[in-house]
Amino acid sequence: MPRIDSDKSCVHIRWMIRRDMPSVLAIESNSFEFPWTEDEFIRCLRQRDCIGMVAERNEEVAGFMIYELHKTRIHVLSFAVRPEFRREGVGKAMIEKLISKLAYQRRNRIVLEVRETNLDAQLFFRELGFRATGVLKGFYEDTPEDAFLMQFRQENEQAFELNANQRFAS
Ligand SMILES: CC(C)(COP(=O)(O)OP(=O)(O)OC[C@H]1O[C@@H](n2cnc3c(N)ncnc32)[C@H](O)[C@@H]1OP(=O)(O)O)[C@@H](O)C(=O)NCCC(=O)NCCS
Repeated sequence: MPRIDSDKSCVHIRWMIRRDMPSVLAIESNSFEFPWTEDEFIRCLRQRDCIGMVAERNEEVAGFMIYELHKTRIHVLSFAVRPEFRREGVGKAMIEKLISKLAYQRRNRIVLEVRETNLDAQLFFRELGFRATGVLKGFYEDTPEDAFLMQFRQENEQAFELNANQRFAS
């Protein structure tokens, strides 16, 4: 079926590739006061268990996420949506993709740090079922602000099965 441009739910999620880097860097610098450099992205993505994901809308990179796989958790290191594409479900689609990778009783939670001043992101994660579980004092090198540690936990087998069904259906 042809894609309909006005369909806001039409988000395609795939692995990040080297060719995405200019778009990712542009989103990064439009999203953060202290953006990562290309070198920082590349160094991070060279690490074992560090993964890059992008979301495309109409074949344009609309958002990206960098995360690390640990034994019992997924740690989101960087995540942003292009300002023009915000509030259109792109961020939600990426987080739902991540949730679909969780496994009950194994890798069953997603963790991330959010700046205490970043209310938009706090509201977004809260809406998607994340909860603040701690405060990391003086977490950032660039500002004296604290970080909130936020966590999504795959609570029970039923929720896991629901996710698994969604994964097989997609
Ligand atoms: C946080 C961010 C990734 C959200 O992406 P997004 O694509 O705009 O989010 P979605 O459209 O999927 O939002 C899903 C829901 O989350 C909530 N939400 C999202 N942004 C919100 C905001 N600014 N204020 C209040 N609620 C918000 C809403 O309930 C929204 O649903 P609705 O639009 O139907 O009301 C995006 O705002 C962003 O890139 N911010 C700058 C970078 C950043 O802060 N990254 C996170 C670092 S930890």
